[in-house]
Amino acid sequence: MEKREGFSSKFGILAAAVGSAIGLGNIWRFPYVVGKYGGGAFLIVYLGIVAAIGLPLMLSEFVIGREGKQDAIGSFKKLDSKRPFFVSGVLGVLAAFFILSFYGVVAGWTLEYVFASITNKFAGQSSEQIGNMFGSFIADPYRPIMWQIVFMGITGLIVSTGVQKGIEKVAKIMVPLLLVLIIILDIKALSLPNSMEGLKFLFQPDFSVIDGRVVLGALGHAFFSLSLGMGIMITYGSYISDKENLGSTALQISLADTFIALLAGIAIFPAVFAYGVDPSDGAGLVFITLPNVFNQMPGGYIFSIMFFALLALAALTSTISLLEVVVAYLVDSLKMARKRASILAFTGITLVGFFASLSNGPLAHLDFFGNNFFDFLDETTANYFLTTAALISVIFVGWFMDKGRIKGQLSNEGKFSIGYESIYFAIIKYVAPIGIVLVFLYQLGVFGFME
Ligand code: TRP
Repeated sequence: MEKREGFSSKFGILAAAVGSAIGLGNIWRFPYVVGKYGGGAFLIVYLGIVAAIGLPLMLSEFVIGREGKQDAIGSFKKLDSKRPFFVSGVLGVLAAFFILSFYGVVAGWTLEYVFASITNKFAGQSSEQIGNMFGSFIADPYRPIMWQIVFMGITGLIVSTGVQKGIEKVAKIMVPLLLVLIIILDIKALSLPNSMEGLKFLFQPDFSVIDGRVVLGALGHAFFSLSLGMGIMITYGSYISDKENLGSTALQISLADTFIALLAGIAIFPAVFAYGVDPSDGAGLVFITLPNVFNQMPGGYIFSIMFFALLALAALTSTISLLEVVVAYLVDSLKMARKRASILAFTGITLVGFFASLSNGPLAHLDFFGNNFFDFLDETTANYFLTTAALISVIFVGWFMDKGRIKGQLSNEGKFSIGYESIYFAIIKYVAPIGIVLVFLYQLGVFGFME
């Protein structure tokens, strides 16, 4: 049997898990869902969910992984051979597969934007022209697919070489640099005319917009952004050394992830209002607003290249983790060689991704429950797959996993005391599962009579 690799340092795991969490979810998807679901009220619901459900769930995934020492499905099977909790892992592998199929498309867009920045394509263009450039690029039958293949190919190469060599190095440089660059963008964005409008949209809640759809959107995005409900943190947890404190690791990752998303929102919404973009414009929000900001910035040419290159890197550390879920499953559960597994996963995911990309153009007429295929994949995977897999995981940890083993994991077998123990168990047993079920019911309109 292949020996399981571990991470070489505390910083290594943190870098890889943070690298997984921070990605297009923070910078591309977060602003676009905030816009889609109406702004500040969504943000408050989102933050509440991250703290009350996201963080404890991340910790639970680490516990399952470090105790099971396998990929998601294997860990569930090992910890409970009688009950079918591994279906959570199956859902997770499927979710990773389908998320990566559209995520790889968006990741490809970032490469196009690096290229467009280098060749100075946005210079002198009006806000409307920049919007049109985005629209015609994603509708093109070939170009986005070409970039998607490039991006997925790089991801596949890294994953096929094994865990620690690939991920740690990239993430260590990427996260700090990204942070600095977004803060510079924030400063610029806040100096734009109308920037207060953007901040109001992001931070001033209008609770009348909240309904089941909005809450489900927040729940789905919280899992998406924290990389939960898919077995990724289970897989990473299986690589975490027994000396690390799982609780503080989960806390640090959740804070970093949320912080980056907020900073991205502070850069983007002022620009949305300054350039007359519609906040609910959807998947193009970042790609349409930021080139305008760069156009007006001293040194914008360089910043634009750097920003999209970093966005591509942030996406890469996430695509690595997504592909790793699928590959780890093929390697651990089906005993496939890592290279073969990587090639197989790459091929399947990229092919489905072609259809996601084409659905922004030539196949736009195909209707999937009122969406094109791209938006359908995006919404369904986050709002239904991740949430359901998460629900199964919390029920497992809260009600079926041996409590002594959980405590052993949280305290490194009693090496230190866990101050948050009672609140953690209350959340995992009651708050999180009941919360998720209520959100489902709410979304289905079961509470419609209250409105
Ligand atoms: N969290 C990543 C992001 O924000 C995307 C991602 C990577 C992900 N791995 C995941 C989402 C696992 C859900 C589950 O871009």
